Amino acid sequence: MSAIRPVELATWGGSVGAGEQADATEALETGHVLFLPNLRFELSDAERAFLTPTIVGKSKNVSFDPRNGSLGGTTVTEMKLEELRGLLGRFALSTRALLSALLPSYAGGIHQAKTSLRPVEVAGRSQSWRKDDTRLHVDSFPSQPSKGKRILRVFSNVNPDGRARVWKVGEPFERVARQFWPKLRAPLPGERGLLAAVRVTKSVRSRYDHYMLKLHDAMKLDPQYQDRFASATQAFPAGSTWICFTDQVSHAAISGAHQLEQTFWVEVGALRNQGSAPLRVLEGLAGRRLA
Ligand code: SIN
Ligand code: FE
Repeated sequence: MSAIRPVELATWGGSVGAGEQADATEALETGHVLFLPNLRFELSDAERAFLTPTIVGKSKNVSFDPRNGSLGGTTVTEMKLEELRGLLGRFALSTRALLSALLPSYAGGIHQAKTSLRPVEVAGRSQSWRKDDTRLHVDSFPSQPSKGKRILRVFSNVNPDGRARVWKVGEPFERVARQFWPKLRAPLPGERGLLAAVRVTKSVRSRYDHYMLKLHDAMKLDPQYQDRFASATQAFPAGSTWICFTDQVSHAAISGAHQLEQTFWVEVGALRNQGSAPLRVLEGLAGRRLA
C-alpha cells in the first residue's frame, strides 16, 4: 500500500467537495502523505532572489511567526526584510486557506505555528545525528512540549531549477512504536521538572513528549532500521505541495533545496479518529495516560 495519496486540488483554498474532504482527512489520519502535484506556490522575480543559502547564515532555515510577524535565522536586513516577511506571510495565509478548504473538520482545534523557508541543500549537510533529518524519524520538538497535540505540516517545493525534494517514507506509526517501545526508557524521577526549571523546555515535558523524543532518537540511532527503508524514496517535484502529520509518518528528507514549510498544531479532540494519534498509540503500549 502506498503511503502517498494524490489530491488534484490546484488552488490555495476554494471549494472542495465533502467526499474529498473526508477522504483527505481519513488519509492523513491513517498516516498517508497528501500529495498535491498541481499546487504550486508562486514567487515573484524579486522573491526568487531569496532562494540562496546565503540568506540563512549559520542556521538551516529562515523562521517566521505568523502571529507577530517576527523573522529569525536570516542575514537579510532593512528593505529586503519586509519583502521576505511578505513572502513567508503569504505562505502562512495560503496554507491556512488550504487547510480550511481541505480539512474543515479541524477548524475548532487547529492552531497555526511557525513558517519556514529552507534554502539549504539537504544532502551532505553536516549535522549531529539528532538533527540529521536524512535519517528516518517522527517529529518531536525538544524544547516545546506538545502534550499530545498533533504536528501537521504543509510543504511546498519552490526549487527554481526544477529539482525535486526527495524523501524516504517508512512504515505506519503503530508498527514503529511497537518495535521501539521496549527500548525506550521511562523518565527519571524529577527529570521533566528539572528540564523546565533550567528552561531546556518551555513548559514541563509530558510523558508523551518524553517518549516521542526517545522514539525520534532511537529511530535515528538504529542503522538496521535506517537500512530497511533505503529504497523507499519519494520525489516531490518542484512546483508541488504535500501535507502530513510528521509526528506519525516516519520520514526523512534526503535531497533537495528551496522549500517552504508551515507547521500547525492539531488537538487530539479534533481528529476524526482519536485512536490514530501517537498519544493514544503510546498510551496503549504504556498502559497509562501520558499527557
Ligand atoms: C523533516 O521534517 O524531517 C524535514 C523535511 C524537509 O525539510 O523536507
Ligand atoms: Fe522531520
